[in-house]
Amino acid sequence: MKQLKQYIDTSRQRFIDELVDYLRFPSVSAQSAHKKDMTDCARWLADHTKSLGLKSRVYRTAGHPIVTAATPRTRNSTKPHFLVYGHYDVQPPEPLELWDSPPFEPTLRGGNLYARGASDNKGQHFAHLKAVEAYLKTGTELPCDLTFVVEGEEEVGGEALVKFLKQNKCDLKCDGVVVSDTGMPDLKHPALTYALRGVAALEVRLDGPDRDLHSGIYGGSVKNPGMALSQLLGGMIDNNGRITVPGFYDDVAKLTAYERRQLARVPYSEAKYKKLLGVKSLFGEKGFTANEQRGARPTFEINGLTSGYQGEGSKTIVPCSASAKITMRLVPNQDAAKILRLVACHLKALCPPTMRMTVDLGHVADPYVVSPTGPLAKAALDSLKAAFGHNPVLLREGGSIPIVEHFARILKVDTYLLGLALPDDNLHSPNEKIDLEAFTRGIWMSANLWTNLAKA
Ligand code: BES
Ligand code: ZN
Repeated sequence: MKQLKQYIDTSRQRFIDELVDYLRFPSVSAQSAHKKDMTDCARWLADHTKSLGLKSRVYRTAGHPIVTAATPRTRNSTKPHFLVYGHYDVQPPEPLELWDSPPFEPTLRGGNLYARGASDNKGQHFAHLKAVEAYLKTGTELPCDLTFVVEGEEEVGGEALVKFLKQNKCDLKCDGVVVSDTGMPDLKHPALTYALRGVAALEVRLDGPDRDLHSGIYGGSVKNPGMALSQLLGGMIDNNGRITVPGFYDDVAKLTAYERRQLARVPYSEAKYKKLLGVKSLFGEKGFTANEQRGARPTFEINGLTSGYQGEGSKTIVPCSASAKITMRLVPNQDAAKILRLVACHLKALCPPTMRMTVDLGHVADPYVVSPTGPLAKAALDSLKAAFGHNPVLLREGGSIPIVEHFARILKVDTYLLGLALPDDNLHSPNEKIDLEAFTRGIWMSANLWTNLAKA
C-alpha cells in the first residue's frame, strides 16, 4: 500500500492534467450537434485506459457508445470481480453567460477544477481509473478483477446500457458494482449512499386557438393556453407540498425510525442550506426534514415551461399553445412506469374542454435501495474512513442513476455508491467543478477499496 500511496502522491499533477484533457470533450448527450464529440470522447477514454494496460473496447449502440475496460486477468481467475460504472456524457452547459470560465476549457481556481462534467461524472470515475493505474504501474497485484463500464447516455435516461447488460450478462457476471456518481456532505463526512430516487419524465402540451391571436381583439373570449397550463400544473401540489394525483403515494415505503435517525446524523444547517441554494426560505412536504424531503420523498417538478412570446420587449398575444417538461422523483416502492401512466391519465382528465392536450411519456427509472450493513458495505465504509480520516455517514440521495436498479435486476448484484461530489460542486448548474482534494482522496479511497473488498 505504501508504494501505491507514493505513486498516487507523486503523480497528482499528471492525473489532473489528464483529467483536463478528458474534460475538454463537450460530450453533451442531449444535443445532436455533439454526436461526434461523444464518439471522440469515448475513443479517448478507450485509448487512455489501453495505455494503462487495460483491455478496452468501444461498443457502438443505437445511441451513444459504451466504453469498457478490463484489468488484465488470467483465464481461470478466482479473484472477486467488480464492475466500476461511470458516465462520460455531461449535461448541457447552458446558460453559457453564467460561467466564470468556459465549460469546456477546464480551469483551476482555489483548489477546484471547473468544467462541465468535472464532478458529474468524469472526475469521479477517473479517480477509480487512476487508483487502478497505481496498481498496474507499480507492479502491485490487484486483489480483484475489475471491469470499467462507462456509458454515454446517463444524463438522458438512455436505454443502450440496459440492452448491453442483457446481452453481455456472462462477461459482466460480478460480485458487485462500485459507483462514484453521488455526493458527500463535506470532506469530513465521506458517505456511502444506500438509496437513490427513481424518476419518470413526461411532456404535456395544451393547444388552444390554431394560431397566436391579438390579445386585445380576442382576449377574454377564449381560454389562454399559458394560463390554463399554469392553473393545471399549479394544482398538482397543495399548500402542504403534497402531490394531489390520487394514488400517487399508495406504494411509498414509510421511513423507519432507524432511517430517520441515520438521516438526522447527516450534518445540516438550515441557514447554510438556504445560502447554498440562494433562496429566502425553504419549501417542502410538511412533516419531513429537508434531508428526508430530498432523499426519501417523491416530488413533481416542472423542468421547463414554455408558452407564447419570450423575445425582447412586449407582444400582445393569446398564445396558441403552452407546454411543460415534467419529471417526478420516486422512492421505494413506487413503480416508475405505473406512476407515469397514473399521472398522464390524471392530466388528461384535467384537460380544459376548450383545448386539446398531448402527453408524451418520457424515460423512467425505478428507485433503488440496498442494505448498508453487509461485509462489502463494511469494506466500502472502511475505505472511505481510511482515505478521508473521518467516519462515513449513510445517505439516501435524491438524484437518480437509472442503471443501478438494472444492475440489481439483470446482474443480481448490489451497487456501492461512494460519491465524491461536494454540495457546492454545481452539478447540472453553471460553474460545475470538482474539489481536487475530494478527487485525490477519492483515488486513495479506491486503492484501499480493492484490497478491502477482496478481504471481505
Ligand atoms: N450524478 C447524477 C445523480 C446524482 C447526483 C445522484 C447527486 C446523487 C447525488 C446523475 O448524473 C444524474 O444527474 N442523473 C440524472 C438521471 C436522469 C436524467 C434520468 C438525474 O438524477 O437527474
Ligand atoms: Zn448528472
